[in-house]
Amino acid sequence: MKNDATACVILAAGKGTRMKSTLPKVMHCIAGMPMLGHVLAAASKALTPERTVLVLADGMNEVLHYARSQLPDILDAIQHRQQGTGDAVKSSLSELEGFNGIVFVLYGDTPLISADTLKNMHRQLCESGAAIAVLGMRLEDPTAYGRLILDNKGLLDRIVECKDASTSEKAINLCNSGVMAIQSDHLPRWLGQLKNANAKGEYYLTDIVALARTDKLDCIVVEAPAAELQGVNDRAQLAAMESALQHTLRQRAMQGGVTLQDPASTYFSYDTVLEADVIVEPHVYFGPGVTVESGVTIRAFSHLEQAKVGPDAIIGPYARLRPGAEIGRKARVGNFVEIKQATLEEGAKVNHLSYIGDAYIGAHANIGAGTVTCNYDGFQKHYTRVGEYAFVGSNTALVAPVEIGMSAIVGAGSVITEDVEADSLSMTRSSQLHRQGWAKQFRLRKKN
Ligand code: UD1
Ligand code: MG
Repeated sequence: MKNDATACVILAAGKGTRMKSTLPKVMHCIAGMPMLGHVLAAASKALTPERTVLVLADGMNEVLHYARSQLPDILDAIQHRQQGTGDAVKSSLSELEGFNGIVFVLYGDTPLISADTLKNMHRQLCESGAAIAVLGMRLEDPTAYGRLILDNKGLLDRIVECKDASTSEKAINLCNSGVMAIQSDHLPRWLGQLKNANAKGEYYLTDIVALARTDKLDCIVVEAPAAELQGVNDRAQLAAMESALQHTLRQRAMQGGVTLQDPASTYFSYDTVLEADVIVEPHVYFGPGVTVESGVTIRAFSHLEQAKVGPDAIIGPYARLRPGAEIGRKARVGNFVEIKQATLEEGAKVNHLSYIGDAYIGAHANIGAGTVTCNYDGFQKHYTRVGEYAFVGSNTALVAPVEIGMSAIVGAGSVITEDVEADSLSMTRSSQLHRQGWAKQFRLRKKN
């Protein structure tokens, strides 16, 4: 058997004109992650490639920057002019020098490809001893896809682009997904032989199949579900893909023991973790980085991102957990409450209309309705600490930096600028004016 080491070349230099966007196509997100991120994750998981080369056009620095955040040792190749998929792979050759094994070519705009499919392709290429494996799919309406033409042994003979296909070739519904696995020792030679005498005037990667056959080498087709191999060209396809992925994520959550009262209105991110026996009411949004432990109820219309929720807590309805929110066991975050970069310990309650930012709320503390941490002075963020069992009355402004001691009570309507000792009472309310009968006199005066 030949060397089964892998390298990946990810094509992302295409203009993506139909997206009508200043953002490069592969940076558009599905389930909270750029399309490119999904492809990188599947490739890393399935193939643990020795090298990954990202092919970009000039000026796509933001794509490279993102890719490096996901895969620090990713290599990049710039394709200065977009002259076709063959030319794109050719531009990666200098980064592949010295590599010996199987080169996988993937598209940055085909994000649903699964790790299992890539593994299967790798295995079949190794077992068959073929020089090229092409990932194919059956489509009822193949429209613009390249068609896979098989010989009488069922091996792949060549790939015809739709624009170059005859009527009988167009009737074939076995299509090229674009993903290929190629024995590296032949690749530079074949890429060097490509011609652009075709309908698009481009150097087609797909033509290497016919070149391999001329060299008396075998090529195989590995089939995979079409749903995994869809590409995104416009916003409608982006939305369709989002909805397909959301469907998968919802099914996965429910199979894991989560109750989704209205699955269709629950939005997941690629990395949302919900433990068994979490209940999610309708219209809940999980942005990236959310973990919810067992027994939690997320009530309707809540929005969570980069937040951790401990067991048996209740969140919402209409709660917002922003990055750095850590909610303890049996804690309670109620309606119109926003929590940012703050910890609520076990049993703490923030039930109504509050903003808690850059704060620590001790176990069983009770934060009254309308309480706000004044954490920002226009220049810096400051921290608020509330001790366990403390009781903060309604409509209190906690002007940070400030600390409320354990079991202290703060009177409603206070503006707290100084630390409050444990077990003490503090309030800043002005004393109440009272004039008996004044209102009645006032009305009489006004009537006359
Ligand atoms: C390609 C295949 C076709 C297949 C289809 C699947 C070829 C010749 N055709 O056609 O058989 O059915 O994909 O979607 O390969 N890219 C570059 N540089 C370029 C051109 C393209 O990086 O010069 C990248 C694009 O960003 C994209 C991918 O390659 O990620 C595919 O390019 P695209 O122009 O969409 O190819 P298709 O014409 O769709
Ligand atoms: Mg395409």
